[in-house]
Amino acid sequence: MARKKTYQALTGMDDIFGKDLEIFRRIENISRAIANFYNFKEIITPIIEEEELFKKGTGENTDIIQKETYSFSTKGKEKVILRPEFTPSIVRAYIQNGMEVLPKPVKLWTFGPLFRHEKPQKGRKRQFFQFNFEVLGTKNAIMDALLIQLFSNILYELGVEKWRVNVNSIGCQKCRPTFLRKLKSYYTSKVKSLCPDCKKRLISNPLRVLDCKEEKCQRIKKFSPQILNYLCEECHNHFKVFLEFIDELEIPYVINPYLVRGLDYYEKTVFEFIPEGKELASQNALIGGGRYNKLVEMLGGRLTFAVGGAGGVERIIEEIKEKKINKKSDIIEKKIDFNETPKVFLVQLGELAKKRSLKIIEEFKKSRIKIEENLEKDNLKSQLSLASQKKVKYTLILGQQECVNNEIIIRNMENGIQEIVPQQDLIREIKKRLK
Ligand code: HAM
Repeated sequence: MARKKTYQALTGMDDIFGKDLEIFRRIENISRAIANFYNFKEIITPIIEEEELFKKGTGENTDIIQKETYSFSTKGKEKVILRPEFTPSIVRAYIQNGMEVLPKPVKLWTFGPLFRHEKPQKGRKRQFFQFNFEVLGTKNAIMDALLIQLFSNILYELGVEKWRVNVNSIGCQKCRPTFLRKLKSYYTSKVKSLCPDCKKRLISNPLRVLDCKEEKCQRIKKFSPQILNYLCEECHNHFKVFLEFIDELEIPYVINPYLVRGLDYYEKTVFEFIPEGKELASQNALIGGGRYNKLVEMLGGRLTFAVGGAGGVERIIEEIKEKKINKKSDIIEKKIDFNETPKVFLVQLGELAKKRSLKIIEEFKKSRIKIEENLEKDNLKSQLSLASQKKVKYTLILGQQECVNNEIIIRNMENGIQEIVPQQDLIREIKKRLK
């Protein structure tokens, strides 16, 4: 009797079940709860899109587009692609669905599978899942820091605590060309010693030579020019303010002047969460992202500054299993999803208050009380009117004076009565009032 044929899943594409699926769901549920806490709206975009969206969005010269796409022509002769990342899809959806007219910033998040035809290895799948967060319509570096805080929170809630965020600024269209000229001239003088891939990169996408993990290229990198020395005033200030915010949050980070990321749309801030002990490994980032201020315009929308990032679910599952992490999170145990309408709004006035706000938001998260804010806005009137629109019960007002005195104003939105309380009593005072 002929043997029956059995089938295997395609290379680099895994079935997810048992313990892995349990962790997978935990990651999904914690991402959703954290997204709700920070007032991100969920969006689900199609898995297949027009190929050109990614050629333009992700970038024609990136490894993803050059080597890794699942793209094909349909019977109707449309050129389509299995999405290799979310960002261009979300930007397309933002433009297509009229979200450009919404009050800024527009915060969107999603969770789902992506496809990259890479050589499968540890941490590198052909089908993998991401949680992905985008903030559209944001200029202020506080949003870059808030995103880092959000991703840290996802990892902490999962019990993944041993990592450092690598941060860098890759400048903008104004300052990067000068740096690229210097970089090219330095690397051209060493071209004979470069790996074959870097020889090509030097012509097609020179920034990416800094990303090479080959030992001989790493040696050359040690003495190469650093972009941080070439930033224009605007990029320099953005990076400085961003660092001040993450300092305030006490997030473990390191400035990595060679971090460039593999996607074309970034400018200014870029970041990657690297687990402790895996600094030199390839495919080591659990989460990666950065600012992209031109992508919306490039894809046919208005000039809209944005920042975002995404975490790799399979890599986080690996990390949890490898380090035998078994943290219980009350988000899972008590099914906390932060899906309620916030009853508290935080108004901040001035740079000092902006900084302090991030910590206050964090205290509310730890106490599992949802709070809303608009850190992009600077004046009292517009923030108070937002608080009224949201119909919150209490608005917290934090100005320069309150910061100096370590106090904060609690305004009852029904009767307009304002009380000043010490910042360290804030959570207790709010809990008392919300009872
Ligand atoms: P990315 O760095 O390409 O960025 O991917 C983000 C994360 O997805 C990585 O840090 C890693 O954990 C995971 N990942 C990437 N490729 C694979 C793979 N082949 N197998 C398993 N896991 C993988 C982006 O995708 C950007 N769209 C992030 C972003 C959003 N930037 C701004 N907004």
